[in-house]
Amino acid sequence: MHVTVVGTGYVGLVAGAGLADFGLHVVCVDKIREKIELLEKGIIPFYEPGLKELVDRNVSNGRLSFSTDLATSVRSSLVIFIAVGTPSRDDGTVDLSAVEAVAREIGQVIDDYKVVVTKSTVPVGTNRRIREIILEEAKNSVSVDVVSNPEFLREGSAVEDFMRPNRVVIGSDSEKALAIVKDIYRPLYLIETPFVVTNLETAEMIKYASNAFLATKISFINEVANLCEAVGADVHHVAKAMGLDKRIGPKFLHPGPGFGGSCFPKDTKAFVAIGREHNAPQRIVESVIQVNEAQKRRSIEKVKMVLEDEVQGKTVSVLGLSFKPNTSDIREAPSITLIGSLLEEGAKIRAFDPAAIEEFKNLFPEGTIYYAKDSYDAAEGADVLVVVTEWNEFRNLDLERLKGIMNGYRIVDLRNVYDPHKVQALGFQYIGVGRGA
Ligand SMILES: NC(=O)c1ccc[n+]([C@@H]2O[C@H](COP(=O)([O-])OP(=O)(O)OC[C@H]3O[C@@H](n4cnc5c(N)ncnc54)[C@H](O)[C@@H]3O)[C@@H](O)[C@H]2O)c1
Repeated sequence: MHVTVVGTGYVGLVAGAGLADFGLHVVCVDKIREKIELLEKGIIPFYEPGLKELVDRNVSNGRLSFSTDLATSVRSSLVIFIAVGTPSRDDGTVDLSAVEAVAREIGQVIDDYKVVVTKSTVPVGTNRRIREIILEEAKNSVSVDVVSNPEFLREGSAVEDFMRPNRVVIGSDSEKALAIVKDIYRPLYLIETPFVVTNLETAEMIKYASNAFLATKISFINEVANLCEAVGADVHHVAKAMGLDKRIGPKFLHPGPGFGGSCFPKDTKAFVAIGREHNAPQRIVESVIQVNEAQKRRSIEKVKMVLEDEVQGKTVSVLGLSFKPNTSDIREAPSITLIGSLLEEGAKIRAFDPAAIEEFKNLFPEGTIYYAKDSYDAAEGADVLVVVTEWNEFRNLDLERLKGIMNGYRIVDLRNVYDPHKVQALGFQYIGVGRGA
């Protein structure tokens, strides 16, 4: 079967290469020519573990190719996956212009039966709208079915998540389209992946409800952590004991500087906006967003506090710029607000990240902050060292060596990667998250 995947970002490229690995013939299409040129040269435009191997394998076996020509690849495909971005507008609603542009382009070239599958995260009702747009644009009367197939992969483990998902959600009103999409995912039946087959609206809702719930767990534990700090409790023991209750589960109960990334911030805002539009307010998720903003501010306050509110002229070493480890994605990363605020108050920043420095330079050009070669270079002369992202290589820094090169012995550990007692025993002032005990 021939399929097109539109959008070669984190979702589209992983899905395209993954579908090729399932045995399909896949053309990945993007409107950005430079991206396609890089991919044709075997260069992956972002960091994602295992993706290059997956792409290389399927390019060399002839099942995966890249193009900017949507019309040609749509004509030769039975199924077209839409995996373009759906960012937030200023009011929190979803900007669907990229999805709608793709639907229009499909409509203009469609001449026989197609199945259009939306992987992008889109509000309830969007898939029906996509079908309307295609039919409005089509010159002749054509037959098209739409399927909602939200994606749940996590950046940093996207390949594994796509190839071995917890579940596959497929929503459509068309039995024929459902059968075709189920057939595409047949290799996952063989590994006993649960499938949820439902209608369009339910599939669209599942994605937002899932992300809103995960974000809720994070904001919940962050507020608990703040209370732990006040009462002398240790949030790690609290979270561990909570997580051992099978009704709660251990995942997403790690306190930190507030969630970021390309999904949770925009998807929680969208969920609230969708609730408002349908007169079914999502008050819990509204609070989740507020708590998250407060947590980001609280992280900045912690850094200022260890500097005794004298930020001007101080050197702050920032370890970790990506919104989470194992990705170069910096969208809505907590590092951005932290660094922005410290620069405003006159601090000098020495930053290091194993993968995200080039991305970060688009926001903070070289010269506005110093981009270090490694963690120790970042710590050189620093008055405080702040761990913002829990990359593995930050977990075992040589603290004696840090002491030798830092100017002040202060560590703000926004991911709780260090044992406070060990760090304090070496003479550092240490602040983590929720470790009041
Ligand atoms: N990133 C994640 O972890 C993740 C996980 C699950 C779901 N999602 C959802 O998947 C969607 C894509 O996310 P992403 O992170 O891959 O986005 P991204 O920004 O990394 O990639 C989107 C790509 O689409 C391309 N594009 C935009 N308009 C186009 C057009 N008209 N024709 C061809 N290409 C076009 C862009 O050039 C870009 O390369 C979003 O709706 C997102 O919410 C993302």
